[in-house]
Amino acid sequence: MLETVRGWIGEARHIAVLTGAGMSAESGVPTFRDAQTGLWSQFNPQDLATEAAFRAHPQRVWDWYAHRREMIAAVQPNAGHVSLASFAQRHPGRLTLITQNVDGLHQLAGQSDALALHGNIAEDQWLDSPRSCCSKETIEAGRPPHCPVCGNLRRPAVVWFGESLPAAALETAEHAACHCDLMLVIGTSGEVYPAAGLAFTAHQSGARVVVINPEPTPLDVVADLCLRASAAVFLPSLLA
Ligand code: APR
Repeated sequence: MLETVRGWIGEARHIAVLTGAGMSAESGVPTFRDAQTGLWSQFNPQDLATEAAFRAHPQRVWDWYAHRREMIAAVQPNAGHVSLASFAQRHPGRLTLITQNVDGLHQLAGQSDALALHGNIAEDQWLDSPRSCCSKETIEAGRPPHCPVCGNLRRPAVVWFGESLPAAALETAEHAACHCDLMLVIGTSGEVYPAAGLAFTAHQSGARVVVINPEPTPLDVVADLCLRASAAVFLPSLLA
């Protein structure tokens, strides 16, 4: 199977890669939907990762993100991130990396052009449209930090449930999914749209789709091959 996929990689003029939380699991970042250890196992996502939750309980949601930020700040890209970045460097213009991860590990591994569909947990933005008083220079510390004049809150620059994805990144990702010859779908449960839909787009546009995940996923139906493997172990040998 490894040789088959290697052959497909060699033949492909353009490769799109879609990654999810499983990509960073071996760096020590918990996934979302693991029944025992996943980030959503103790919480209902609607209680933390929505605008309504933040408005209702700003401190609780801010603290949860602060905890995740600390955890993420302490981890490093794994061999899977590194091998993707190295492949992209050796093959300029041939690979589009699309990630649902907000941990910045692809970028830290060297892929600063990764399309971060769900934003970046290390960054903040204003909750409400900034008014003339909302200046980055005068933000008052707090949980969450806020504008001392009008009280506008800072929030993590991630895409919450029910929010739109960054339009330019999504458009570039859709273009890559439509025009690639091969899509590698790595470490995502395929439950969250529109990201998961990119695998269907690639398949419908005639690309080969390879799913790399130790568990079955709903995206397996469009896969030419499913590799039940972990990202950090498998990608280095696949992309060497
Ligand atoms: N290598 C590859 N895949 C793995 C590994 C690994 N080492 N470990 C776990 N996985 C797989 C799991 O089997 C699962 O299918 O990674 C997937 C992780 O799924 P989720 O936790 O649902 O994460 P993801 O698909 O990225 O979630 C999508 O949902 O919660 C929102 O915005 C959040 O970006 C996130 C989105």
